[in-house]
Amino acid sequence: MILLIGGEKGGTGKSTISTNIAVTLAHKGHEIVIVDCDPQGTSTKWLTRRNKFYSDLPKVFSIQKTGDTYDTIKDLSTRYKHVIIDAGGRDSEELRTAMVACEKMYIPLKASQPDLETSKHMTQLIKLARSLNNKLDAYTIISMASTHYNLNEDKEAISLLAQSNIAKVSDVIIHERKVYRDAIADGKGVIVYDNPKAITEINLLINEIFTNA
Ligand SMILES: Nc1ncnc2c1ncn2[C@@H]1O[C@H](COP(=O)(O)OP(=O)(O)OP(=O)(O)O)[C@@H](O)[C@H]1O
Ligand SMILES: [Mg+2]
Repeated sequence: MILLIGGEKGGTGKSTISTNIAVTLAHKGHEIVIVDCDPQGTSTKWLTRRNKFYSDLPKVFSIQKTGDTYDTIKDLSTRYKHVIIDAGGRDSEELRTAMVACEKMYIPLKASQPDLETSKHMTQLIKLARSLNNKLDAYTIISMASTHYNLNEDKEAISLLAQSNIAKVSDVIIHERKVYRDAIADGKGVIVYDNPKAITEINLLINEIFTNA
């Protein structure tokens, strides 16, 4: 599977979701490579910490790639079972070429107006990418959602996103949890922490990604 976690909004949890999917699949015994398209290298730095301090944990590989990512992604897909691309934060060559190379794309968005506003332009990018990659399967996913039950923000955001006939909306919501920040800081995935809710939502996301493949 070539999976892109991308979008043009910054700070929506793309690297958090990419690294957690990668680690969880690695714990299941799969060979995973992350293509880190972010010049800030969040995923690469996370992996450096992981390799330095926890060499006994299941291995995840990563490479950094900027500019045109197409050939790199296609080449890696012949050597690894799953290629996970962490791209975006803005509309860029990396994001656009990854959208042409990938099979499935998840666009994390917070349930807030500035994030949701970007979904319109993302729709145009998806249409453009599909003219070169007609199999591109695109989902939006609510990320960093509040854990307060009485807020209707998520439901409102989901019903807004569901109006799109270009991208589907994920059935999974990733919530704002400190364990995600701890995991990024430690070079691990939430899978090794005692936080069943976080583990469950990452596993649900993985099930959705791979059962609808
Ligand atoms: N579900 C979450 N719960 C708590 N904190 C989160 C969650 N997701 C992300 N964060 C925190 O929010 C910040 C941004 O997350 P992250 O780096 O994953 O976003 P990004 O979309 O990759 O950002 P960028 O666009 O800069 O690449 C980080 O400090 C991260 O630890
Ligand atoms: Mg990032």
